Amino acid sequence: MRHPPNFNGLARIYRVLEMATFGPWLWRCRCAFLDELRTRRSAAVLGDGDGRFTARLLEENPLVLVDAVDASVEMLRALVQNAGHRSGRVRIHLADAREWKPHSPAYDLIVTHFFLDCLTTAEVTALARRLRENVTPKAVWAVSEFAIPEGWFGWLVARPVVQALYLAFLVLTGLRVQRLPDYRTALEAAGFERARKQEALGGLLVSELWTPRAH
Ligand SMILES: C[S@@+](CC[C@H](N)C(=O)[O-])C[C@H]1O[C@@H](n2cnc3c(N)ncnc32)[C@H](O)[C@@H]1O
Repeated sequence: MRHPPNFNGLARIYRVLEMATFGPWLWRCRCAFLDELRTRRSAAVLGDGDGRFTARLLEENPLVLVDAVDASVEMLRALVQNAGHRSGRVRIHLADAREWKPHSPAYDLIVTHFFLDCLTTAEVTALARRLRENVTPKAVWAVSEFAIPEGWFGWLVARPVVQALYLAFLVLTGLRVQRLPDYRTALEAAGFERARKQEALGGLLVSELWTPRAH
């Protein structure tokens, strides 16, 4: 198995980089379905990064407990800082999410914001299958991702943007994956179905909510 990419060097500047490139749009994607996450009790946030979303989730939802998984120690350090006095409700897991064993048999929330694009389609499928065994029947999985929409915008704008991002992350973090995974097929194969979808920036960004199909 490849080593996970190393995001340690980006942890402190990640927010600034994000604002300089996409302004508020990534943040809007992460928060697209926040209203529906306020009643959740047990969350697994994978590839959590600097934890700004987790901090917001903890703020909006006073009862949720979070398992935060990331392969970068510096990202997790930033996460704990961002969670502030609410960090007591977060269990930190410094781990490769591809090998991480879920700590709860009954998550009612999974979150992957701009993380699945660090994996191949086969890796997303394996991860989703493992998670499917550890979610409640009414769980939701919030996904934010880059996408390449059909049509001229996809070819002329979204594709080059995504390629440039992959190149930048190859140089900065050693990320070996260089194409978006087909995570929709992966999640469907693992027993999830899409319940909601929102797009931004002409379809370059998508936010989705997935739910488990009945066994
Ligand atoms: C592009 S960042 C996204 C961070 C955050 N979720 C966000 O919305 O900005 C990807 C994150 O996934 C983590 N990551 C990448 N591959 C990983 C893996 N195999 N296991 C665990 N974490 C991983 C990186 O360390 C990084 O923090």
